[in-house]
Amino acid sequence: MKISLAATSPLRQPDFVFGVATAAFQIEGGADSRLPCIWDTFCAEPGRIKDGSDGLTACDHIHRWHDDIELIAALGVDAYRFSIAWGRVINVDGSINQAGLDFYLQLLDALQARGIKAFVTLYHWDLPQYLQDLGGWLKRDTAYKFADYADKVSRAFGDRVYSYATLNEPFCSAYLSYEAGIHAPGVQNRQQGRQVAHHLLLAHGLALKVLQHNAPQAKNGIVLNFSPCHPASKSEADVRAADMADQYHNQWYLKPLMQGCYPKLLEQLPLAEQPDIAAGDMAIIAQPLDFLGVNYYTRTVYRANNKGWFSDVPPTSPPLTDMGWEIYPQGLTEVLLDMNTRYSLPPVYITENGAAMPDALQQGKIEDSERVAYFQQHLQAVEQAIDAGMRIDGYFAWSLMDNFEWAEGYAKRFGIVYVDYTTQQRTLKASAIALRDCFAGRTHVG
Ligand code: FCB
Repeated sequence: MKISLAATSPLRQPDFVFGVATAAFQIEGGADSRLPCIWDTFCAEPGRIKDGSDGLTACDHIHRWHDDIELIAALGVDAYRFSIAWGRVINVDGSINQAGLDFYLQLLDALQARGIKAFVTLYHWDLPQYLQDLGGWLKRDTAYKFADYADKVSRAFGDRVYSYATLNEPFCSAYLSYEAGIHAPGVQNRQQGRQVAHHLLLAHGLALKVLQHNAPQAKNGIVLNFSPCHPASKSEADVRAADMADQYHNQWYLKPLMQGCYPKLLEQLPLAEQPDIAAGDMAIIAQPLDFLGVNYYTRTVYRANNKGWFSDVPPTSPPLTDMGWEIYPQGLTEVLLDMNTRYSLPPVYITENGAAMPDALQQGKIEDSERVAYFQQHLQAVEQAIDAGMRIDGYFAWSLMDNFEWAEGYAKRFGIVYVDYTTQQRTLKASAIALRDCFAGRTHVG
């Protein structure tokens, strides 16, 4: 099972960055050495996580980070994308928790020693619970607290970081957390969802300013998720529904960053559901980015519902991943080219792409051929976007290893490395070997 790049592939360019990605809450464990966060609280509520699990131990990366760095280095990647747990580095009074900071400093130094670029995400959903108790992202003040956290961390990390992303997928922290209610803190309220989205974007803008000041040498940006929105039928109503979904789920985050305003759909929301936007906010949000991170997994199909709104139509026919998500690689080219047409984009990195598969360890091996095919197809989708004239500077596989998949718990495995949660043993899947060989083969031809 191989992943191959054409001899003329733009992904063979020496400065194209290949990496693997993780997030703090999903792998670290070590809950006793950080503050509790909203996901700890959510996991403790019965019925929230499908397998009843939590992130207290996860992949125990906090104790095994050294071996994990060796694993990353052995894959031959150029870069490693990971996130900082806010509540590990900042105390309740806003001061630095030196022990927590040292953990990341060691990690950064180990990466630097191996020539691996550090792509640091400051917020991958694990808001400290004490901030939630003060109102969390519903409160404007949380955006300022986030900028302060970004300030402290970026000063302490010095020049060790190649790239900072302020937020990972604000769509999830706003929509899944406050409208769909399936992510922490599990609220279902549209007005709150829109308000949280606005405060997250504000937090991004405030923090970006700080990062550009403290770490001007780093590439500073944000990571958004995109899913092309397709109509279930050619009917005018469904076509309109898909366009509304695109505005609500995709453009809601990108347009403010690129053009300093929300999509038109905002005006169609009843006043009571519109977010409070203070004078000057949109300018803070729309500062120039050094890069845009794009996470892509699948497309989504929508139909009009009888409330004048849109409903998604879950896919039923194969090929589907273990998440039930349709495998739709051409959607990656589509979203990339679509955003490139609409906006004047900064350089793009594909910061997450991957698939959960029902992996089985058999005689010490995991033959995840479907995941290998997934990567192959999606790398080709990236090539096509570049060939069509777009600037894409890198690609990160989600994920380095199996981990805590949020509301799905540990049952869904996205890793290219298999984790046995009883022994914490890591085993390379066929996909890890295929990616490693692909990375290694890049320089030989072309
Ligand atoms: C993304 C998240 C990441 C992971 C993948 C499967 O939305 O950023 O943490 O859970 O989905």
